Amino acid sequence: MRRWMLAGNWKMHLTIRESTALARAVVEGTQGASGGDVIVAPVFTALASVAGVLKGSHVAMAGQNVFYEEKGAYTGEVAPAMLRDAGCVYAIIGHSERRKYFHETDGTVNARIKKALPAGLKPIVCVGETEEEREKGVTEFVIGQQVKVGLYGIESLEHVTVAYEPVWAIGTGKNATPAQAQAVHVFIRGLLTDAYGGTAAGSVRLLYGGSVTPDNIGQLISMEDIDGALVGGASLKSESFISIIKTVSGR
Ligand code: PGA
Repeated sequence: MRRWMLAGNWKMHLTIRESTALARAVVEGTQGASGGDVIVAPVFTALASVAGVLKGSHVAMAGQNVFYEEKGAYTGEVAPAMLRDAGCVYAIIGHSERRKYFHETDGTVNARIKKALPAGLKPIVCVGETEEEREKGVTEFVIGQQVKVGLYGIESLEHVTVAYEPVWAIGTGKNATPAQAQAVHVFIRGLLTDAYGGTAAGSVRLLYGGSVTPDNIGQLISMEDIDGALVGGASLKSESFISIIKTVSGR
């Protein structure tokens, strides 16, 4: 039985004070949530302060990105051990906004995962097709490439989570239907089964992301291969994120 996972990606929003307040509200509002993992991903400047709020709670923290070198002359980057030092257990890697605005590729996604894992950071690896790619019928080709190159040479999936986030669904209010998301999740699990075997692939959590709300999470999570969600906009308000968590945890 896979544990559910709900990760709130706060993107480039919230001050330190707003971030700690939201983190506190999420901790308090989801006390009874069991059987899964609640994660928040604040901006880098708020990580250490939010870690103070989350300490000893059931809520874990993720970096929104992580670099693939340990230290050195890489102005503006943050290393895996630095995220661990700030209190992160997870790191989002390869988000479509990183790919679109910062030219990240499947190759750099792979390099990041390879450095994150030995540092003790659990990657949440994002994949997803654009609207044009879906219309052209190449969704599986694109996702196949992203998964295979992204995970190339990664020996174990034990600490890896994959988030399927169709680019056309992110921040648009146009979520994939549960059936559309389930179909891609089955495809991804099939790829993982080919590479790692059924047992390992069967334990990997596959998240859906893209316009998840309290209204659509119930149907999404009812699908066999949807193990949780990466939530953007709806994670910025405590009420909506808590409502999503309560729906999934059944409390
Ligand atoms: P959204 O973002 O929920 O605002 O669509 C999801 C994401 O980018 O992870």
